[in-house]
Amino acid sequence: MKTNFGPSKILFPSPVALVVTGTMNEANIATIAWASLLTSKPPTLGISVGQKGFTGEAIKNNNNFSVNIATADIMTEADFCGITTGKEIDKFERSGLTKMPSNVIESPIIRECPLNLECKLTDWRIIGQTIHFVGEIIETHVDTKLLGDTADLGSIDIAALNPLIYFGGVREYRNVGDKIGDAYQIGKKLR
Ligand SMILES: Cc1cc2nc3c(=O)[nH]c(=O)nc-3n(C[C@H](O)[C@H](O)[C@H](O)COP(=O)(O)O)c2cc1C
Repeated sequence: MKTNFGPSKILFPSPVALVVTGTMNEANIATIAWASLLTSKPPTLGISVGQKGFTGEAIKNNNNFSVNIATADIMTEADFCGITTGKEIDKFERSGLTKMPSNVIESPIIRECPLNLECKLTDWRIIGQTIHFVGEIIETHVDTKLLGDTADLGSIDIAALNPLIYFGGVREYRNVGDKIGDAYQIGKKLR
């Protein structure tokens, strides 16, 4: 038996993206769980950002932002960046997270996040209460310690990455479990 709830926003799990806006001198971090790839050519992602916070205006002003993947090791800092606003405090200073210059865009990346995406704003639109920003991914940073023998993006060691996973609705953080299969392969058993 199932029960029904009508309209809801239960779609999980989600990555915990730390979105950095601004410049090396004045940068801000916002925790964004509603982040997703949109297309591969060109590589593009979308993030949904509330209209009242600091981040939406900052992206519109600078036309760029970085997306930094939070790990379980920085869960407390990531949560902190989601319950405070850059309108009031310097989140880099208070969280202890450190900024590093990006290669291409003005907004920095976060040193403690092993995976960082530099994004150039290509589009945005208001949907309901949020602004959906579309960013083309123009540079990718990966901690070399995570890479396997082939040293390509397909060799990232997920256990070592230890990404922080968020479940909305129940408002829980979890880490990833064990690998249980090879994607695009295991289903061939039923072909
Ligand atoms: C786990 C978590 C996930 C969040 N996901 C989003 C999100 O997807 N979109 C959003 O607008 N706010 C999200 N928030 C809330 C923002 O991070 C929060 O409003 C923050 O204060 C915005 O910071 P800013 O004002 O410095 O931009 C999330 C918060 C937490 C703790």
